[in-house]
Amino acid sequence: MGAPQAARVVSVAHTAQLDPADLAEARALMDVAFGPSGGFTDTDWSHALGGMHALVRVDGVLVAHGSLVQRRLLVEPGEQSGSGARSLRCGYVEAVATHPDHRRRGHAAAVMAALEAFAPAYDVLALSASDDGVPLYAARGWVPWRGPTSVLGPTGPRRTPDDDGAVFVLLGAPALDLDAPIACDWRDGDVW
Ligand SMILES: CC(C)(COP(=O)(O)OP(=O)(O)OC[C@H]1O[C@@H](n2cnc3c(N)ncnc32)[C@H](O)[C@@H]1OP(=O)(O)O)[C@@H](O)C(=O)NCCC(=O)NCCS
Repeated sequence: MGAPQAARVVSVAHTAQLDPADLAEARALMDVAFGPSGGFTDTDWSHALGGMHALVRVDGVLVAHGSLVQRRLLVEPGEQSGSGARSLRCGYVEAVATHPDHRRRGHAAAVMAALEAFAPAYDVLALSASDDGVPLYAARGWVPWRGPTSVLGPTGPRRTPDDDGAVFVLLGAPALDLDAPIACDWRDGDVW
């Protein structure tokens, strides 16, 4: 007989339902997972709060995390479309990370599966993919938004060219033109 398999437990909870210790453990995991050069900030963490968290524990230790928060995305009409701009109710994925010692064991996939289960509540799910994250999301059917990205900032719409191509979506029921201009609502820090 080999060594017993480590027990993986996936749990889902709203920010308000998590103990401060759970939130602190998840925040600390971000620092380890993104590393000192990755620069995961407190503002990044604030973007991950106020929604549903998926937590993966192995033998009681948190090894992977992600969360889903609601925000608005404004999609401008495509050239072929006769309709006006659409404000989409978006489930936005934040703070997806797995501890470096536990990667390629399906933990982030388990996080994503738990968050994607909320897709029926939204017009679209979206996220901003890091280089590490692209293979994970692509393997799960997420596709890059091809149109130009912007933010609806305090002084009006502003292009976010550095984010073009890095915004991924999991398409839901409404048909969307992936080549259309898309804008996110405003927030401190990284807007996408
Ligand atoms: C991206 C990250 C979360 C992946 O976590 P993980 O637990 O190792 O991912 P999984 O084991 O669930 O991978 C599931 C699938 O995604 C794909 N995948 C994940 N990481 C990959 C990699 N480095 N290279 C190629 N494919 C990868 C594979 O298809 C994989 O399935 P497979 O192992 O059977 O081939 C992890 O590398 C990480 O924490 N990186 C640093 C933080 C970060 O960039 N997070 C993403 C923010 S958008």
